[in-house]
Amino acid sequence: MKSGKIILNFVLHFIFLVICVPLMGFSLTTNTISSNSFLKDPDTIVSSGNVFKLGFFTPENTTNRYLGIFYTFSEKTVVWVANRDKPLKEDSSNIVTISKDGNLVLIDGRNQTIWSVNAKTSHENTILQIQDNGNLILQDNATGSIIWESFSYPTDTFLPTVKVFDNLTTGEKTLASSWKNGSDPAVGSFMTGLEALNIPQFFIWKNHRPYWRSGPWNNQIFIGVQDAYDVYLDYFSVLNNHAGIIYLTGPNQGKFFMKFSLNSSGSLVQTVWNNEKKDWDIIWSSPENECDVYGTCGPFGICNAQNSPICSCLRGFEPVNKEEWERRNWTSGCSRRKQLECDQSNNTGGSRGNGDGFLKLKLMKVPDFAEQFPSGQEDECRSRCLRNCSCIAYAYDRNIGCMFWSKSLIDVQRFASVGYDLYVRLSASELGNNKVKELFIIIAAVAVIFCISILIFIVWCQMIKRKGGKTKNEKIFEAGQIFSLDSTAIAIKDESQQVNIEELPLFTFEMLANVTYQFHDNNLLGKGGFGPVYKGKLTNGKEIAIKRLSVASGQGMEEFMNEVILISKLQHRNLVRLHGCCVEKEEKMLIYEYMPNKSLDICLFDPTHPSRNILNWTKRFGIIEGIGRGLLYLHKDSRLRIIHRDLKPSNVLLDEDWNPKISDFGMARIFGGNQDHANTARVMGTYGYMAPEYAMEGRFSEKSDVYSFGVLMLEIVKGKKNSHYYNHEWSLGLLGCAWKLWSENNVLAFTDENIADSNLEEEIVRCIQIALLCVQEFPKDRPVIQTVLSMLNHEILDLPTPKQPIFAEKWNGLHGGSSQPISQVGFSINGVTLSVLNGR
Ligand SMILES: *[C@@H]1O[C@H](CO)[C@@H](O)[C@H](O)[C@H]1NC(C)=O
Ligand SMILES: *[C@@H]1O[C@H](CO)[C@@H](O)[C@H](O)[C@H]1NC(C)=O
Ligand SMILES: *[C@@H]1O[C@H](CO)[C@@H](O)[C@H](O)[C@H]1NC(C)=O
Ligand SMILES: *[C@@H]1O[C@H](CO)[C@@H](O)[C@H](O)[C@H]1NC(C)=O
Ligand SMILES: *[C@@H]1O[C@H](CO)[C@@H](O)[C@H](O)[C@H]1NC(C)=O
Repeated sequence: MKSGKIILNFVLHFIFLVICVPLMGFSLTTNTISSNSFLKDPDTIVSSGNVFKLGFFTPENTTNRYLGIFYTFSEKTVVWVANRDKPLKEDSSNIVTISKDGNLVLIDGRNQTIWSVNAKTSHENTILQIQDNGNLILQDNATGSIIWESFSYPTDTFLPTVKVFDNLTTGEKTLASSWKNGSDPAVGSFMTGLEALNIPQFFIWKNHRPYWRSGPWNNQIFIGVQDAYDVYLDYFSVLNNHAGIIYLTGPNQGKFFMKFSLNSSGSLVQTVWNNEKKDWDIIWSSPENECDVYGTCGPFGICNAQNSPICSCLRGFEPVNKEEWERRNWTSGCSRRKQLECDQSNNTGGSRGNGDGFLKLKLMKVPDFAEQFPSGQEDECRSRCLRNCSCIAYAYDRNIGCMFWSKSLIDVQRFASVGYDLYVRLSASELGNNKVKELFIIIAAVAVIFCISILIFIVWCQMIKRKGGKTKNEKIFEAGQIFSLDSTAIAIKDESQQVNIEELPLFTFEMLANVTYQFHDNNLLGKGGFGPVYKGKLTNGKEIAIKRLSVASGQGMEEFMNEVILISKLQHRNLVRLHGCCVEKEEKMLIYEYMPNKSLDICLFDPTHPSRNILNWTKRFGIIEGIGRGLLYLHKDSRLRIIHRDLKPSNVLLDEDWNPKISDFGMARIFGGNQDHANTARVMGTYGYMAPEYAMEGRFSEKSDVYSFGVLMLEIVKGKKNSHYYNHEWSLGLLGCAWKLWSENNVLAFTDENIADSNLEEEIVRCIQIALLCVQEFPKDRPVIQTVLSMLNHEILDLPTPKQPIFAEKWNGLHGGSSQPISQVGFSINGVTLSVLNGR
């Protein structure tokens, strides 16, 4: 699924539709039916904003008539069907009306009641209304109370403002079910809804058996949905009304038309209306592949869509039925090879020596049937699980706490780049065996490396002898140059100047594999958007960081080299220095200097990290300035104009003196001379740092980097990560809080406790104001980076007043549950009455 596309479409239409759609078509019909009126086939009633219609329709390849709700601008898109199991014949005397007892009824030409709402009403004066969010409501005309609504009885579609309930007390659920097929809206084999027991998950069921599962809700996303991690998909929330009723709710209807439909082959498909194409764009759907199908690999099996075959047993487990397994029928799954030694009597201290241990699996979709135990620490999950013999696995999430599993592990999947660490309990002997194996492999690898090093050394010595010791230091890396580009092939586009390839050292794959122990996980420094980063130590003792670009980057070899050579010419104290690269077969790697203080996000957001306290205001301000200068160099001072596009704390590295160095600019977009902004079909970046116009329309410019810089400044002041910060009391995210507290002159309440100091207040206020200028909605309102630096340096003294940032409103929409358009949802300063703020 292309994440970029999702975001791109998302608000393109958002903006488009609000302007265009209300102008389309017109209708003089009302939006209500009362007890003394009726709706006759083929008439319709239309919602007040002209979005939805209630009326009769005929699906394709049939003559049956149904009563349904559809869009005014796309009448074949039916979102709800009344008489789905009882079709009408084509007949102009089919009518919908309100019966004597106040219920909604559908009556055919022979005066037979075909379908009705059987709400128990004693209300005689009821009225039926079609609303702009697609909800059909039957209400008591006198009191206005809702007697029945179509949102509680969905057909196959969930519309944005719907609430999907799971009432744990009564067992009642809001379920949508698929059509039988495109011409028959009768109840099909698939159903979808929320399952709130333990930790809420979203499900698709096939014939009442689980078919797909979203994974647990962690108060932000469903953690088993890969696209939810880096994409602007997190506009749901799951809420608990404290009466055992849990419900999921989507965004407010807002200005775009989006829906989730369960189609007749069991896919839950999210689509957005594309007003140019006059059609629906698919922006997400699940299940995407066989691994997404519930329990494909059976109990204790693990599914990896990148492997062939996709199923394997967890380590320490073997197929229950070998023969079936080999025939690729994985349904019976795997069973434990060695029984656990768990025995509560002698394993109280959780000692690992002769008890059990845990195998760590990374990037996992966690199994079904998790039990929750709220806890702030991962260690506690481990010790609790170890103490309890029925616990066979655990995982940890900051919002959920501990997740424990007993009995079986089912529907386990390994994702490509996101996911959780899952710890599976194994007997110590099972783990021990593998320790020995691992050790053996390491010894073998070391031996091989040793031999190769000696060989290289000999070859090198001979080369030196031959060249008479003229070799430059960098030449060490070139042992066996593999990239056979003759130097004329590489030309800088705008300078038409040839590059001497010797300027950029080429490393061989083999050598990089060796210095990282075959890219062993122990050498993994982290994972960036483009692939994992490893630490290595060259034979001359120099430490390097190696970024292994994922194969999927899809860039041609020559373009890649062109870009890398250009980038290698950038030199600035606030940019990470590129040492060289490696291009071999499918592999592309970039070699950077190694930064001992790691990245800013670790220093800033990890509460256990010692450097959080080292980073006082002076250091933090220095970091802000340094990043600004690095950005200025990219935008203006280098011979090229470079837009970074993914500026965030994890891309800012810190050297031993806490000087910030921007990294990852390697894959940024290099601009031609007088281009001001560009569009991209592939939005790369990270939710929380992307400017609205980039996230939503794929338009980027220097100003979108300025936006990310503004977010970064606020994070540095607050010491909290934008995407993880949410103030429940005010229903506001980081940007919203900053704005609110700034406009109330209470900036110290926003500041990280470690640096909050009233002597610094003026400085901090200024900094926040500059940050707020950077995160304004419209690019034209944001200052360019030179101006930002001048403001920071007090060269510009009078600062303009920032406008309210747009994402300040994001969360509010989710919690209000009202149906105001998004533009009005944000908190209005006047509307919010604030009593005393909790100072510290
Ligand atoms: C339809 O049936 C209702 C009762 O079921 C009756 O009161 C009404 O008169 C009938 N209408 C016609 C047109 O036959
Ligand atoms: C749809 O299903 C109905 C019955 O369930 C069947 O009669 C009809 O042929 C099907 N139509 C298509 C196009 O498959
Ligand atoms: C259901 O949606 C999936 C994913 O978009 C698609 O591949 C499939 O063809 C759809 N099925 C039908 C019957 O439309
Ligand atoms: C796979 O194995 C299960 C259990 O033995 C059996 O019920 C099922 O029919 C088999 N499926 C196929 C496709 O062979
Ligand atoms: C052990 O774990 C099981 C399953 O998670 C749970 O039901 C049980 O209460 C736990 N026992 C103790 C003593 O914590």
